Amino acid sequence: MIRILATGGTIAGTADAASGGLRYRAAALPVAQLLGNMDGLDGLPLEAEQVLSLDSKDMRPADWLVLLAATRRALQDPQVSGVVILHGTDTMEETAYFLHLTLPPGKPVILTGAMRPADHPAADGPANIRAALALVATANEGQQGVQVFMNGQAFAAREVVKARSTGLDAFDRLPGQAGATHPAGHFAALQVDTLPEVFVLPGYAGAPAELIDASVVAGARGLVLALTGHGSVPTAWEAALARAQAAGVVVLRASRCSGPVSRNANADDDGRDWLTAGDLPPAKTRIALMLALAVGWSRQQMIDGLPQL
Ligand code: SIN
Repeated sequence: MIRILATGGTIAGTADAASGGLRYRAAALPVAQLLGNMDGLDGLPLEAEQVLSLDSKDMRPADWLVLLAATRRALQDPQVSGVVILHGTDTMEETAYFLHLTLPPGKPVILTGAMRPADHPAADGPANIRAALALVATANEGQQGVQVFMNGQAFAAREVVKARSTGLDAFDRLPGQAGATHPAGHFAALQVDTLPEVFVLPGYAGAPAELIDASVVAGARGLVLALTGHGSVPTAWEAALARAQAAGVVVLRASRCSGPVSRNANADDDGRDWLTAGDLPPAKTRIALMLALAVGWSRQQMIDGLPQL
């Protein structure tokens, strides 16, 4: 039996008649109706559960925990051989990476979605669902990590990125990550009701340091700096970062480019007590840092472990 966990997204979207078809509403159809409208599922051992019903731009860490609980329940069921998660494409890479870090390796878990709504005359969702189901059905039990399946391609959760805002080929691999293996389930023992707040702050010409102070006031326990180039901290940010650190906030250098940010290269990370992202992009680094803070990793564990996750 394969369990389908639905969370909404364009794959369950329908056109907004009032816009003359220019716009659509994500997460409009319940999963039973979505699957009921599809060909090619007859006789397949499937069951479906509506876990969430969201446009994935509105997915919050609290929703990740709800989905994690539903996926754990499914995987613990001896009748279930694997899970397909239907998800909006906008934050699919974040949810996939969160689940990659928090689910034990073993039974296959594959996220899929669609770039076109379910009532589009050439909707891509049905083909993606059929292919994800086939992938789960043929995967072996020793699966290493969560995958994303979109438009004929399977991607590892760590490497996948939505690289284009439109088009069926919206998903890609982060440069330099092909073939790299990063074991799944580092935080499979996670038992929490909430996750610590970690904010991503963008670096750009003239980016104001006030964003840092505001983040501390808003309750951030960690800041991932999505900096220019090799993770270059604006001079104008230094005093505010030191204030944030004095208030107990963890500071991590990442890059808005796809290249790595290496420890003590281009900045005195040891002297400033900053962490570095390695080749993890900012949104995924945020997830890794949230989990590291949630389970109480030491500073040394964060220095050594975060870029490897
Ligand atoms: C969403 O992410 O829920 C909307 C966009 C999409 O699924 O393509």
